[in-house]
Amino acid sequence: MRTTTARAYPNIALVKYWGKADEELILPAAGSLSLTLDHFETTTTVVPAPEAATDVLELDGSLADPGQTNRISVFLDHVRELAGREDRVLVRSRNSVPTGAGLASSASGFAALATAAAAAFDLDLDARELSRLARRGSGSACRSIAAGMAVWHAGDDESSFAESVDAPDMRMIIVTVNRARKAVSSREAMRLTAETSPFYSGWVSSTEDYLEQMVAACSAEDFTRIGEITESHALRMHGLIQSTVPPIRFLNPTSHAIFDAVAEAREHGIKAYSTADAGPNVAVIVRPSDAEALAERLSGFGDVRVVGPGPGAHLLTAADEVPPAAGTSAGEGSHA
Ligand code: DP6
Repeated sequence: MRTTTARAYPNIALVKYWGKADEELILPAAGSLSLTLDHFETTTTVVPAPEAATDVLELDGSLADPGQTNRISVFLDHVRELAGREDRVLVRSRNSVPTGAGLASSASGFAALATAAAAAFDLDLDARELSRLARRGSGSACRSIAAGMAVWHAGDDESSFAESVDAPDMRMIIVTVNRARKAVSSREAMRLTAETSPFYSGWVSSTEDYLEQMVAACSAEDFTRIGEITESHALRMHGLIQSTVPPIRFLNPTSHAIFDAVAEAREHGIKAYSTADAGPNVAVIVRPSDAEALAERLSGFGDVRVVGPGPGAHLLTAADEVPPAAGTSAGEGSHA
């Protein structure tokens, strides 16, 4: 085993994943498609700790809570099983955005962890196997293994992975409305939706249809159709989520105002379309030449960032290792 560091970027889905066919293997009820970004990265270092009794997670410079540590430990158990080893590890992870606020930080987090852990445990995985592994941590993480536009195939454990597809160049404007950790996790809300929404089966079949149309629109470089599907599918997902019992609402009045402002920009000739994940923040796709003007228009709604298609998850060198948290014994040593 060896110490390794990897970096991965979040992705924002244009055809959303919302519902599982298998909770343990994290197989989706339908395929999805997303754009891996070039901002908001997660960097993760995995340090072998063969004498330790448990895995340890340091997140953004502090010891993580037991819930978060347990979630990565369950994932690492799978890595250990693949490697035929029992070693515990110390994981140090640093996000450039706050976790759990609907900016898909679990996607970049598990894509970076899968990439670093596979290398730390000397697993020789190709991109498809790495995507399948990341999927076991968080479904959407399998798409952050791939660069740019990526399709995650529904299927069984073997065939459910993500891979890049051709798409027209575009920018995404991320409007951060609220940085707080969301009250209900995607995982929990997804389960509640499948269990209680009367619209769930229609959602799954319409997602399959949209994915097929979206892949065709991407390969035809039809930006308008890509946009129309993106916005319509996001609104369907949020409608679906509101139909759960008890209802869950992730969008707030500011989110809705951004959708309206983007629709108004279209009236003025700026082709742009909105989407939002499980939180109030809105992501707007736009052609590169219109990105700055639209970002300016949206700047009154929150913190605005123009981002583009980014790289897939990758290993870094020892120079990029995440430093130990202050207050840990290793951290105290390095600050002495
Ligand atoms: C709304 O991938 O976080 O962002 O597989 O349970 O970890 P788990 O869920 P997660 O869900 C992402 C949901 C979404 C839509 C999407 O990214 O496709």
